[in-house]
Amino acid sequence: MQIYFAPLEGITGFAYRNVHRQFFGDAVCKYFSPFAAPNYTHHFKTREREDIDPANNADLCLVPQILTNRAGDFLWAAEEMYAMGYREINLNLGCPMPTVVKKGRGSGQLGDPDALDLFLEEICRGMEQIPGKICPQGDCIQEKIRFTVKTRIGLESAGNAGRLVEIYNRYPIAELTVHPRTQRDLYGGKPDLETFSMFLEKSRHPVVYNGDIFSFADFDKIRSRFPDCGAFMLGRGLIADPALARELCGGAPLQKEELRRFHDAVFQSLKASLPGQAPLMGKMKELWFYMGRNFSGADRFLKEIKKAKNEIQYRSAVRALFANCSF
Ligand SMILES: Cc1cc2nc3c(=O)[nH]c(=O)nc-3n(C[C@H](O)[C@H](O)[C@H](O)COP(=O)(O)O)c2cc1C
Repeated sequence: MQIYFAPLEGITGFAYRNVHRQFFGDAVCKYFSPFAAPNYTHHFKTREREDIDPANNADLCLVPQILTNRAGDFLWAAEEMYAMGYREINLNLGCPMPTVVKKGRGSGQLGDPDALDLFLEEICRGMEQIPGKICPQGDCIQEKIRFTVKTRIGLESAGNAGRLVEIYNRYPIAELTVHPRTQRDLYGGKPDLETFSMFLEKSRHPVVYNGDIFSFADFDKIRSRFPDCGAFMLGRGLIADPALARELCGGAPLQKEELRRFHDAVFQSLKASLPGQAPLMGKMKELWFYMGRNFSGADRFLKEIKKAKNEIQYRSAVRALFANCSF
């Protein structure tokens, strides 16, 4: 069984990933980068390039992710990533954010299966050429790109899900991660396990389950229902409980003191990578939105963390939380 760390834009950047890898990474096979969204200018934004720079990811297995509906832009980005040394590249067909969907990207691509089919045909044909361009003499081992896809099950409904599987089956996709919600669901309701079951049965590619695994009990339910599923991708559950992958693999559950040390290391790592207090406070507060669930009777202390305007106030609020709340 394999566990992957899902990409979470704004949260699982390299500064966070490296600390997670150091503290809890033994149980995580791969980390996925939040999406890079190339456009016609064929330049990565500084933040995107920094995030996938191999020098910033030396100790972990990273899969970079691309979000675009333009084949030329995808192929440009894939070739850049290949040249950086990456051999697995992930396509985002799941992002539900209205700003992304409006431009026909992410899960916005699931509403027009014919266009998706053409897009996949073009990028798969183009990727065949990439190793050839890197080694024109053919005198080195030409490793192919492992092309993987992360998808939702539809745009407005799961009505097209069967068609989507047929389309994916036509292409050399090394692994298909399925988050069984539609774009319209955003993160509401429950994952549609019936449709996931159909993906697992009909897909000729290995399927990875993703969605709402927040505890050992959640995982156990999914695992017993889908014993043939070999890999699970965890997102918000791992942010809330950074030791969850370890626990799912039979290791110890998260300890309060461990979370404290992990938190302090993440704080330092983010501080070193962000330009100033405001973005640092913003990121730490976003993490507490998830990590706060580990404590009972913590509302008052979490409110103080939320109100903190600078490092001194923030540190004092976190100290109070750890000192006064049980785990
Ligand atoms: C804040 C946030 C940012 C996300 N960013 C990305 C992203 O960059 N790429 C992507 O494929 N999915 C992204 N996702 C979706 C997650 O990777 C994952 O599919 C989703 O949270 C469901 O898994 P979970 O229930 O284990 O969290 C994001 C989700 C959240 C909540």
